Amino acid sequence: MNLILLGPPGAGKGTQSKILEEKHGYKQLSTGDMLRAAISAGSDVGLKAKAIMDRGDLVSDDVILGIVAERLGKPDVSNGVVFDGFPRTPAQADALDKMLEGRGQKLDAVIEMKVDDEVLVKRISGRFTCAKCGKGYHDEFAKPTAAGVCDACGSLEFSRRPDDNEKTVRDRLQVYNKQTAPLVDYYHKKGNLHVVDGMADIALVTVAIENVLKGLKA
Ligand code: AP5
Ligand code: MG
Ligand code: ZN
Repeated sequence: MNLILLGPPGAGKGTQSKILEEKHGYKQLSTGDMLRAAISAGSDVGLKAKAIMDRGDLVSDDVILGIVAERLGKPDVSNGVVFDGFPRTPAQADALDKMLEGRGQKLDAVIEMKVDDEVLVKRISGRFTCAKCGKGYHDEFAKPTAAGVCDACGSLEFSRRPDDNEKTVRDRLQVYNKQTAPLVDYYHKKGNLHVVDGMADIALVTVAIENVLKGLKA
């Protein structure tokens, strides 16, 4: 099963991708997480991406397609992939079609997660992540069960993203509307677009996504 979760910053792509990975064994492929790992490692890709990400612009298609192709070459993606934050431009969407075709695979569904702008800003401003295992939390909407302790791995260390401030979030939203939103029409025309209400609670969004997957198998 190959799925795309399509939606603006803070729509819940990362949150739901991780749930899909745990439940079904599809691998989450988050280009944002891969770029942040490249920055931490100080690699060439990381050096190219850092300033662009900090101001909320898109990293070049060439760089992105390079890291995605490399990731899809690994054996652990054979059960399927949840693409999180990729593709983000028509050129990336086109290249993904070709990459899947080259592997004898296809895209099973594109799930668009719709959330109002003001809610997105609130979600992103309150987001934090376990520094050890990457589990995502929110100051208000998704707190750890015991304050300051990661539910998944017990770590006491958390981090916040440098691009998670209100100014950059608004810039990222503009970039999304201009460069990524046209993909909604692109996938609608191809007949594999499904829309879910991303405003609902995390568990209800999971149910809506599961319903889309059931519909595909029926
Ligand atoms: P990326 O890392 O992809 O960030 P993004 O698209 O801006 O999305 P986010 O990760 O901010 O949001 P999300 O939808 O994953 O939300 P989450 O589940 O965390 O990209 C970062 C940058 O990298 C880009 O700006 C660009 O520079 C570069 N980049 C990446 N991919 C690229 C590409 N393909 N091409 C070019 N450049 C690229 O949820 C947010 C918060 O809300 C969390 O705290 C969560 O707990 C909470 N939450 C989630 N769901 C709910 C809910 N239903 N109700 C209440 N709270 C919720
Ligand atoms: Mg994310
Ligand atoms: Zn953890």
